[in-house]
Amino acid sequence: MAGSSQHAQWSSRWAFLMAAVGSAVGLGNIWKFPYVAGQGGGGAFVLVYLICAFMIGAPCLIAELSLGRRGQMSPVNSMTKIASEEGRSKAWSLLGWSGIVGAFIIISFYSLVGGWVLAYIGKAAMGFTGWTAATSESTFNSFIAEPFEPIVYHFLFMAITVGIVARGVQGGLEKAVEVLMPALFIILILLVVYSGVTGNFDAAIKFLFEPNFHKLTVNNILSAMGLAFFSLSLAMGSMMTYGSYLPKSVNIPRSAFIITASDSMVALLAGLAIFPIVFGYPGLEASKGPGLVFVTLPIAFGQMPGGTIVGPLFFALLGVAAITSSISLLEPAVSYMEERMGWNRIKTTATMGFAAFALGIFSSLGQEGNVLANVHIFGLSIMDLKDYIASNILMPIGAMFMMIFVGWFVSRKAMMEELAIQDKSFRVWYFLVRYVCPIAIAVIFANIIYATITG
Ligand code: TRP
Repeated sequence: MAGSSQHAQWSSRWAFLMAAVGSAVGLGNIWKFPYVAGQGGGGAFVLVYLICAFMIGAPCLIAELSLGRRGQMSPVNSMTKIASEEGRSKAWSLLGWSGIVGAFIIISFYSLVGGWVLAYIGKAAMGFTGWTAATSESTFNSFIAEPFEPIVYHFLFMAITVGIVARGVQGGLEKAVEVLMPALFIILILLVVYSGVTGNFDAAIKFLFEPNFHKLTVNNILSAMGLAFFSLSLAMGSMMTYGSYLPKSVNIPRSAFIITASDSMVALLAGLAIFPIVFGYPGLEASKGPGLVFVTLPIAFGQMPGGTIVGPLFFALLGVAAITSSISLLEPAVSYMEERMGWNRIKTTATMGFAAFALGIFSSLGQEGNVLANVHIFGLSIMDLKDYIASNILMPIGAMFMMIFVGWFVSRKAMMEELAIQDKSFRVWYFLVRYVCPIAIAVIFANIIYATITG
C-alpha cells in the first residue's frame, strides 16, 4: 500500500463484520463480563447490560462507524476533515487523538493479559490435575509476580498482533479474522455443550438469568454501561478506523445491530461455558472477581473428565478473542502514523507495537508482588492507572463528545446520507444520539468522578 493514495478497504461486508465482531468480542466478554455479572446480581445485571448495549452502545457504534466512513482516514485526520467540511473547529480532531491515545494505552496492558492467556494455554496442556484452591491461587499470584516470564509472553502476544497488522487490512486483518472468528464460535459452542453436560447447567441459567434486583446498585448499573462500551470497542478509534475501510454499499445500522447482537451473545455464551463448571464443582465461587478465569477455572479443569483437552481449548478461545481485539487496538495508531510519517506498513506497525510493548512492561512489573508493586500513582497500580485513564476518562469523555459532534455539529443531511435508513428509524437513532446517549454517558462520568473524589 505504500505510496498509493487509495485508502485501504474491506473486501466484503463479511470481512468487515468478522473484523468488527472480532474487535468487540474479547477479554471484556469472556474474562470480564462473567465475573462482573457474577458480582453484580446475575440476571438483573445481564438485563441492564443488554439494555445499555442496544439502547446506548449500538447508536454510538453507528455514529462512530459513520464518522470513520465519512472521513476515510485515520481517526485524527477523519475528524479534522469532517469538522472542516461541516465548517466546525479543528479542535474536534482532539476526539481522534483521544481515541488513538486511549487505544494505545489499552493495548499496552491488554497485551499483557493476552500474554497471561498464552502462558495458561501451556499450563492447561500440562494439566491442572490435583490443583486445589490454594495451589491455583498461589500459582497465578507467583506467575504475575515474576519479573521476567510474563513479559516474555507479553512480547509473544504483541509479536503475533504486529505480525497480523503489518500485513495490512486485506492481507493481514481480514485473513486472520476469517479463520479465527469461526474457530472462536466453534470452540465456544463446544465448551457450552461440554459444560452443560458435565456441569451444573440449571444453576448457571438461574444465576445468569434470574433477576436479583435487590443486588442491583447504582454502581452496578453504571458498571454495566461502562462494560457495554468497552465490550463494543467504542470511542477509542478502533471502530472509527474500521469504519474508514468500509465500502459505501454496506449498511451501517444493520451492521451495528449484528455486531452488538453477536457481542452480547458471546458474553452470555461465555457465562454459560463458565458458570456450569463453577457451580458443578464444590468450593468454587461465582463471585470470585478477576481471578475467576485464571484461578477458579483451573481447579475445575483439574477435576473434570477431559480437563486436559477442555482446559487448553478454553484458554485458546480466550487467546483468539484477545488477538482479534488487540489488532483493532493497534490499528488506529498505525493508520495515523502511516499518514503522518509516510512510513510503510511494516515499519509503522513494528514501531508502534514495540512502543506499546515497552509501555506494557511497567504494567507487568507493577503487579502485586512484582518489582514495581510499590509504585502507586493516585493510589492505583500502574495497570489500574492506565485502565482508569483509558476506560474511565478518555472513553466516556470521547464517547460523549463524539455523540455531541454527530448529533449537533454534523448536518442532519450528512448523517441521513451516511446511514441510508428509513425516516422513522433515523429519527429514533437521532434522538438517542442527541439526547439519550450524551446524558447517559455524562451520568456515568459524573459518577466515576464522584466516586473518585469521595473515595
Ligand atoms: N472490546 C474488546 C473486549 O471486549 C476490547 C477492545 C478492542 C476495545 N478494541 C477496543 C475496548 C477499543 C475499548 C476500545 O475485550
